[in-house]
Amino acid sequence: MITEPVISLKQLTKKFGNITAVDDLTLDIAPGEIFGLVGPDGAGKTTTIRILAAIMTPTAGTATVAGYDTIKQGEAIKHHIGYMAQQFNLYGDLSVLENLTFFADIFAVRGKARKERVKKLLHFARLTEFTGRRAGKLPGGMKKKLALACALIHQPDILYLDEPTTGVDPVSRREFWDILADLHILGVTILVSTPYMDEAERCSRVGLMYQGRLIECDTPRNIKSRVAGDLLELRPASAAKSGIGLLRHARAAIVDLPGVLEVQTFGDLLHIFVDHVETQQPAILAALGQVGVEAQNIRRTYPRMEEAFISLVRREQEKPAAAKTPAATTEA
Ligand SMILES: Nc1ncnc2c1ncn2[C@@H]1O[C@H](COP(=O)(O)OP(=O)(O)OP(=O)(O)O)[C@@H](O)[C@H]1O
Ligand SMILES: [Mg+2]
Repeated sequence: MITEPVISLKQLTKKFGNITAVDDLTLDIAPGEIFGLVGPDGAGKTTTIRILAAIMTPTAGTATVAGYDTIKQGEAIKHHIGYMAQQFNLYGDLSVLENLTFFADIFAVRGKARKERVKKLLHFARLTEFTGRRAGKLPGGMKKKLALACALIHQPDILYLDEPTTGVDPVSRREFWDILADLHILGVTILVSTPYMDEAERCSRVGLMYQGRLIECDTPRNIKSRVAGDLLELRPASAAKSGIGLLRHARAAIVDLPGVLEVQTFGDLLHIFVDHVETQQPAILAALGQVGVEAQNIRRTYPRMEEAFISLVRREQEKPAAAKTPAATTEA
């Protein structure tokens, strides 16, 4: 079955002077997806979302949302989307309830519908007990939930969330994502940018942005499987060194061995990407032994999004300019 994409970008480019913030982005997002946009600072995530919210015009290319062109039919798009901006603004002096009714006014949600929706959203965002609390006095996690509730007041079928949980504690982040899962079940299409790889794992598909380009776009499982090689994990131990000094020392001893593709630190562990675990493990242990490092807790493991992300960005950084992934071929 072929479903029409609800969000469709075709060779979208946005330049600010000589900075190319979004570079030739082609991407289709299907109805009901939770699509995660991940990438380092300055990758172009916010700019992409702004164009899709019809508040910024692209330099080249086109985008449609719910079938409407972002340049020519921006007004129509605004009825379909809820947008929680990276620097969203709640009214700190207004209560939780007053913020919600304020946003209801902006979207002309009135009368009985307004009353019902406010009640439902307060419940949905787990804020019913805090209706009288000033927004400015809420803890971070609750502020985000209130902002989400405000973005949902006009019942949009598409939701843009730009780093909605940045700076929030892990428990609140989880709760926020449980709310997103509820929305997902209701059929809302969600486009979310996040710096957190555990959140990327919860998306139906992830687009990895780097310097304005989409360098990978696939399910989390497929992205992880695309990282080359096997992954060996071990904890270096030495009588002479400890901490980051020990990790650096151990890394330096093995990073240039044949068959070693990449070495990442992970807490007090080393994650070593090799072409074949079975053949390279003895050489790695020997090289560590030669510099006085013992390898403990050795095990073969599998890359998570975190490692996949670092590895794919590094691969992109090491490419010569001419060989950079052309964004158009990474179309979903
Ligand atoms: N209004 C603007 N004027 C000039 N340059 C801009 C403007 N908006 C964004 N940029 C530049 O475009 C690039 C992409 O920025 P963008 O904010 O889209 O990235 P991002 O992926 O959202 O980053 P972050 O993780 O920091 O939020 C950056 O180099 C940024 O400095
Ligand atoms: Mg941003």
